[in-house]
Amino acid sequence: MRARQGAAIKNMNFLDMVPKHIRDIQPYKAARPIEDVELELGIRVAKLEANENPFGPSPKAVEAMRRFLENVERYPDDTGYHLRQKLAQRFNVSMDEIMLGAGSNDIFAMAFHAVLAPDSEVLTSEGSFIVYYILAQGAGIRMVCTPVKDFGFDLSAMAERITPKTRLICIANPNNPTGTIVRRGELREFMKKVPGHALVIMDEAYFEYVDDAEFPDSFEYLREGRPILITRTFSKAYGLAGLRIGYGFAPAPIIETLHKVRMAFNVSSIAQVAAEAACEDREHVARTVNSNRSELGFLYRELDARRARYVPSCANFVLIEVGNRAKELEDAMLKKGVMVRSMGAWGFPAMIRVSVGTHEQNEAFLKVFDEAR
Ligand SMILES: Cc1ncc(COP(=O)(O)O)c(C=O)c1O
Repeated sequence: MRARQGAAIKNMNFLDMVPKHIRDIQPYKAARPIEDVELELGIRVAKLEANENPFGPSPKAVEAMRRFLENVERYPDDTGYHLRQKLAQRFNVSMDEIMLGAGSNDIFAMAFHAVLAPDSEVLTSEGSFIVYYILAQGAGIRMVCTPVKDFGFDLSAMAERITPKTRLICIANPNNPTGTIVRRGELREFMKKVPGHALVIMDEAYFEYVDDAEFPDSFEYLREGRPILITRTFSKAYGLAGLRIGYGFAPAPIIETLHKVRMAFNVSSIAQVAAEAACEDREHVARTVNSNRSELGFLYRELDARRARYVPSCANFVLIEVGNRAKELEDAMLKKGVMVRSMGAWGFPAMIRVSVGTHEQNEAFLKVFDEAR
């Protein structure tokens, strides 16, 4: 049965009253649910469009959730005490320097909400994580973006664009969708030029995957008491994206400020319990990261053999140049059971991004890529 269509709004100028900067937002468009696609095609689909963990969650996290299910009549621990305690020990920071969010996106939203005034500026690069631009636009804030350099952040150019109005600086490290990183020395030079009135968000959603000795230790700046917010997530290497749980580190007064705009009970009890158990399963993360490394090597060799151009990645996805048919290719590959993402809305109209899957999924991707190209 078809779902009922919503009624049209009649005799109302309500939508005209919505501020223009909100009306103009192009909302984040997630892919179709895999269950729908599988039902329509009648085949198993390789979901390689959202950089999820192809091995799923840790069995320990699943077991912990199962055991907890009978307690969901209670609101969650609003302080996230036990998980914050684990994270404090793991990363050697104090508990009041940690906060939890319903995904790291929730923490970005709190930062945008808490620190921006109407004449503030947010500084980032073009070609970075789409949520930053949506949040800035939603807040009606001027976004200052420097051009992409070598598929990554140009920190020297960004330093030159800092003004007395800059309140937030967003750096995705590794960057999504390019998979590139900013290196230790570059970040150090940049941080020397960041004034005390700007909060640097270091978005490290994919840090577990990085295998580069030059990857910066952003905790250095936390220890120095700089205005920095380091965000991380259980959505990627931990395979818990559906639960929506992420975490952030910042000096305690900044965490306190973010709590002022946090919705009470923003992180569900099930997510907290699962994340605690997932933290204990280092083997699951190690298996995920090791497989990602060898499968990235496999994809590079296969793409090289096809003379396809791609951006070498420090994360669990690869940006591949496909020419002006990127959207068409995405649609054609979907019909053959492989979900990838064309990157037009992200500023790379000639590219698709494919997540690194299991070996079987990566082979399926290459087969369908060959057929659709
Ligand atoms: C760079 C980057 N940051 C943050 C996130 C958000 O992750 P979550 O809200 O699931 O923690 C993503 C998700 O794709 C990402 O690519």
